[in-house]
Amino acid sequence: MQTITSYIQEHKQRFIDELIELLKIPSISADSAFAKATTQTATAVANSLKAAGCDTVEICETPGYPIVYAHKIIDPNLPTVLVYGHYDVQPPDPLNLWDSPPFEPVIKKTDKHPDGAIYARGACDDKGQMYMHVKAMEYMTANGKLPCNVKFMIEGEEEVGSVNLAWYVERNQEKLANDVILISDTGMIANDIPSITTGLRGLSYVEVEVTGPNRDLHSGLYGGAVANPINILAKMIASLHDENNHITVKGFYDKVEELTELERAKMAEAPFNLENYKKALDIDAVYGEKGYTTNERNSIRPTLDVNGIWGGYTGEGAKTVIASKAYAKISMRLVPHQDWKEITELFKTHFESIAPKGVTVKVTPHHGGQGYVTPIDTIAYQAAEKAYEKTFGKTPIPQRSGGSIPIVALFEKELKSKTILMGFGLDSDAIHSPNEHFGIWNYLKGIETIPYFYKYFTELKSSK
Ligand code: BES
Ligand code: MN
Ligand code: MN
Repeated sequence: MQTITSYIQEHKQRFIDELIELLKIPSISADSAFAKATTQTATAVANSLKAAGCDTVEICETPGYPIVYAHKIIDPNLPTVLVYGHYDVQPPDPLNLWDSPPFEPVIKKTDKHPDGAIYARGACDDKGQMYMHVKAMEYMTANGKLPCNVKFMIEGEEEVGSVNLAWYVERNQEKLANDVILISDTGMIANDIPSITTGLRGLSYVEVEVTGPNRDLHSGLYGGAVANPINILAKMIASLHDENNHITVKGFYDKVEELTELERAKMAEAPFNLENYKKALDIDAVYGEKGYTTNERNSIRPTLDVNGIWGGYTGEGAKTVIASKAYAKISMRLVPHQDWKEITELFKTHFESIAPKGVTVKVTPHHGGQGYVTPIDTIAYQAAEKAYEKTFGKTPIPQRSGGSIPIVALFEKELKSKTILMGFGLDSDAIHSPNEHFGIWNYLKGIETIPYFYKYFTELKSSK
C-alpha cells in the first residue's frame, strides 16, 4: 500500500502522458464538424474510469453528446460522493494567436508554472481538472484507500449550456443520489494561496438584432437620412450602463443580494494586488461599477457585457454602405436571487423599449442558468478545508468566482445536494483563450488533495 505522494511520484509521467492523449482529441461541442471527436472523447473517458477501478461504467446516450456515468459502490451505508466534470472544450479560435496548435499539447515552463504547464485547449477547462479525479480514483482503488462510494458523471456539453445534462439529471434522480457533489472546474488564488470557490454567478445570454432599411444602402445616397442600424445599436448598447457603470435595464437590481459590510470586509482580506492585476492584462486602469472593488465587481456584482458585435462591411479596404442589420451577443452575469429567466425578460422589454423609430429590434435568448453559493458551515466544506490544509499546509480562503457552471444550481434543485468546488486552475491559465494551459504542479496537487477530501468527508460524516 502506498501513500498518495509516493504513488504520484512513481506514476506522474504516466499521469501526464495520459492527459496529453486526452487533450489531443478535439472535443469542441459548439462545432458540429467535431462531432466524431467529441463522441470519441466520451469513450476515452469511460475507458479511463474503467481502468481506474469503477465497477460500472456507462456511456449514456442523450439527444446530444453522451454522458459518461460510472460508479463504485463499496457499501450502501457509507456516504456517496458524486464527481461532475466535462470533457468538451471551447472552440480554439482565433487559431493564429496560439503559440502551438491547440490539440497538439506541449509542456512549457512559465513564471507562474516553473515546473511546466501543459498547453492545449481544455488543459485546465476541464479535461485536466476532470482527469485529476480519475487519477485520484485510481490511487484510492489500487491502494485500498477508497473510504466511501463514488459516482462519476462527466458530460460533453458544458460549454454549450448543459441542456441534455439537465434532461438527464431530471430523469435519473435516484441513480445520481449522493451526499455531496465534488467539482474541479474553477480556479484558486495562487499556488501558494489556496482557495475554495464558494460562489458561481448565474448567466443570461442573449442575441440582439437591429433592422433598419430593407436592404444595404449606399452610404452617400442615403447616409444621414435613414437610421443606420449599426449606429443605433452602438447607441443602445452604450445606454445600457450609466455614468457610474450601473446597468440601466429596468428592474435589473431589484433582487440582487447585497452583502453586509462585514461580509465585504471579510472579502477584502483575500490577497489581491491591483498593480499586478493591471500588469498581467497590460491595462493602465481597471474599470467598472462605482462603489465596488475589483474583486467585488467580478464576483458579487452582476454585469452586462457585449461578447460580440457585427454588421456591415468588415472586409479589406473600404466599402461605403449602410447595412440593413446589426447584431450583438450579450451576456449578463447574475448574482444570488436574480432569476435568469426573469432577467432575460427584463432585458428584452428594456431593449425593445429603447429602440428609436426607424428600426426594429429582435432579442433572442440563448441559454442561461442560476448562480450558486456554497455554504461554508457544512461537513463537506470542512472536509475540503482539511484536505487543502493537509496538502498545501495552509487554510484555503473561501472565495466567490465570477464564472458560471449553471448545472450546479440545477443539481441542488433536482438532487437536493450541495456542491464543493475544488478548483486548481489559475486565472492566468487562459481558459477559453489562446494558449490555455494547466500547471503540472497544479495537476499533481489536485490528484494529491482529492483523496483527502474523501477521507475527511467520510470521517466527519460518520462521526456525526
Ligand atoms: N469552468 C468554467 C466556469 C468557471 C471557470 C467558473 C473558472 C469559475 C472559474 C465553465 O466551463 C464555463 O466556461 N462556463 C461558462 C458558462 C457556460 C454556460 C458556457 C462561462 O462561465 O462562461
Ligand atoms: Mn469548465
Ligand atoms: Mn469553460
